[in-house]
Amino acid sequence: MKNSIVMVTGGAGFVGSHLVEALLANGNEVHVLDVVPLEQAKNLQEVRDHEKLHYFVGDLRKQEDIEQFWQKDASVIFHLASVVGIKHYIRDPLSLVDIVVIGTRHILTEAAKYNTKVVFSSTSEVYGKNPEVPWSEESDRVLGPTYVDRWSYATSKAVCEHMLYGMKKQSGLPFVIVRFFNVYGPRQNPDFVVSQSIYKAMRGEQPLLYDDGNMTRCFTYVEDIVRGLMMVAENPAANGEAFNLGNSVEVNMRYVIETVLEITESNAGYQEYLTEKEYGKQYEDIIRRIPQIDKAAELLGWKAEIQLEEGILKTVEWAKQNQWWLGEGGTLGTVKVSQQ
Ligand SMILES: NC(=O)c1ccc[n+]([C@@H]2O[C@H](COP(=O)([O-])OP(=O)(O)OC[C@H]3O[C@@H](n4cnc5c(N)ncnc54)[C@H](O)[C@@H]3O)[C@@H](O)[C@H]2O)c1
Repeated sequence: MKNSIVMVTGGAGFVGSHLVEALLANGNEVHVLDVVPLEQAKNLQEVRDHEKLHYFVGDLRKQEDIEQFWQKDASVIFHLASVVGIKHYIRDPLSLVDIVVIGTRHILTEAAKYNTKVVFSSTSEVYGKNPEVPWSEESDRVLGPTYVDRWSYATSKAVCEHMLYGMKKQSGLPFVIVRFFNVYGPRQNPDFVVSQSIYKAMRGEQPLLYDDGNMTRCFTYVEDIVRGLMMVAENPAANGEAFNLGNSVEVNMRYVIETVLEITESNAGYQEYLTEKEYGKQYEDIIRRIPQIDKAAELLGWKAEIQLEEGILKTVEWAKQNQWWLGEGGTLGTVKVSQQ
C-alpha cells in the first residue's frame, strides 16, 4: 500500500498506531479518527508532526463526526476503533455495543456512499468457546448466554460482520474481515497477558497467572498483523472474505509468564489470580483458542513470522527505551470512552 489516501479509525490505539506508522512510512496520506486527542495519544508521539498525518478527534457514535472525517478519495478505511479488553466490556457492555455496533453502522453508511473499501478488525472471540480447535473461517460460533457480559464483545463484532455481508448484497460494498488472534507488542495497554506480564516483571512486580495457567492462546506479534492488514487492503482477491490472522503456535499462560520472567531476568515469580473472584461466578473463559491459517496463507501469502519468544524480546527492548510505558497506569491516558 503506497502513496494512497487511507483512513484509519482507532489510530491512536495499539494496533492502529503501528498501522499508521507503517502507512506513513510507505508515503500514504493517513487520515486518523480517534476519540483521544492527538496531544494525549502517546502511541503516535513519534509521528505526531508528520506532514502526511491528518488527525480528527471524533466519536464513532456520532454520524456527523464520521461524515466530517470522511475522505471521498480514500482507497480504503481500516476500521479498528473499538472498546477492547474484557474488563471494559464486563464493566460497561452497553457502551461496547453502542460503539461497536452503532459506530460500525455509521462507518458502513458512509463507506457505501463513496464505495470505499472497508477493512474491518474483528476477533477470534467470534468463535466463542467452540471446543473444536483449530478454527477455520467457517467454524461455528459457540457462545454462552446473553447475561454473561463477556459475550457482548463477540456478539457485537459478529453483528458487524453480518452488516458487512448485508452491505455487500445491498450495494456491492468492497470489504474484508480480519479476525485477530491475541495481538501483542510494544505500546499495548498492560491489561493483556503478554503486555501485563512484561509490564509487571520490568517493574519488579509479580505477573498475574490467571486461574490454573493452563489456558492456551496463539499470540500474534503486532508487526505480523500490520503486514496482514496491508495485504488484505491491497489484494482484490481478499474482497468479500474473512481471514483469521493469527500465529499457529499454541502456548499456555504459564509458559508466557515463565518466558517473560526469563527474558526480563526477574526473580519476582508470579501471583495467582482467580477470575471467579474478580468477575463473579458467571464469568466464562475460553480454554483453547487456535486459528486455522491456510486461507490467509493460500489467498494472501500471509503467515505469522515472529514467534512469541522473539516478540517478547522485542517488546522488552522497546520498553527499556520507552520508560513512559512502565510508569503508573501504563500506556496513554486512554479516555474512558463510556464516559464520553
Ligand atoms: N489487541 C488484540 O489482541 C485484538 C484481538 C482481536 C481483535 N482486536 C481488534 O483490533 C482493533 C484494535 O485493537 P487495539 O488492541 O489496538 O485496541 P486499542 O484499545 O488500543 O485501540 C482502540 C482505539 O479505538 C478508540 N476508540 C474507542 N472508542 C471510540 C469511539 N467511540 N470513537 C472513536 N474512537 C474510539 C480508542 O481511543 C483507541 O485508540 C479493535 O477493533 C479490536 O477489537 C484486537
